[in-house]
Amino acid sequence: MLLRSLVFLVSASASAFAQQIVYDVAHNTTPIEGTWSSGSMNVTTGTTYANPNNKTFSYPTNTGQSFTNEATMWFEVLRFRMYSNGSYPNCPTIVLNWSHGTFQLASNGSILFTPVGDGYQQIQDPCAARSDFVEDYNDTELYQSWQIFTDPTDGPKLHMFAFDGSPEPPMRLLSAMPNMYPNQRLTNASQSPTT
Ligand SMILES: *[C@@H]1O[C@H](CO)[C@@H](O)[C@H](O)[C@H]1NC(C)=O
Ligand SMILES: *[C@@H]1O[C@H](CO)[C@@H](O)[C@H](O)[C@H]1NC(C)=O
Ligand SMILES: *[C@@H]1O[C@H](CO)[C@@H](O)[C@H](O)[C@H]1NC(C)=O
Ligand SMILES: *[C@@H]1O[C@H](CO)[C@@H](O)[C@H](O)[C@H]1NC(C)=O
Repeated sequence: MLLRSLVFLVSASASAFAQQIVYDVAHNTTPIEGTWSSGSMNVTTGTTYANPNNKTFSYPTNTGQSFTNEATMWFEVLRFRMYSNGSYPNCPTIVLNWSHGTFQLASNGSILFTPVGDGYQQIQDPCAARSDFVEDYNDTELYQSWQIFTDPTDGPKLHMFAFDGSPEPPMRLLSAMPNMYPNQRLTNASQSPTT
């Protein structure tokens, strides 16, 4: 574990996006590097569910989100969410969301994800006029803070808190080896299809 932390520190400081990475009890007990996944750990970044080259998705079995963080300060995220509306119980909105880019661990404890411009999302709302469409997604996301605890049963758990302090679902380490697309822009935004 110590060796992996050192490797992470050395390679991170060699990158153009080098940040001061804090390894202490308040921040984390293990490196943030690797592929993390919430809930039943069914959702994962990489080639399993997202096809950014043609902006399509296949469906994970369960909802959840997965973040991969790499030593080069590159990240990838995949989310599969379902929102229900009490007034229309038969019309859940389904969102599949993918992006990648660079991340920064700020000295004030926040984490900032800056996508590289080829992200996309699919929104399905069976009761809306536009019931199924794909759109570009390039939002910069700021999380106020993050922590990694090592749970005696579940192992390392990454907790992130949104800009307003509200907690994201905790994510467990799916694989210490980052599972992700290449660290570069894969498509041009102008190529995005809409159905
Ligand atoms: C999109 O790309 C994936 C992965 O290459 C492929 O399996 C899928 O059939 C493609 N879908 C469309 C609609 O082209
Ligand atoms: C539920 O649907 C109604 C009608 O479209 C909308 O006004 C309302 O904001 C929705 N509620 C939620 C929580 O999305
Ligand atoms: C923390 O740092 C980030 C990145 O520099 C910045 O965007 C954010 O506003 C800062 N948060 C606070 C509470 O100062
Ligand atoms: C995506 O967002 C980043 C960060 O805000 C920006 O630098 C980039 O130009 C955006 N790309 C596109 C295609 O909008």
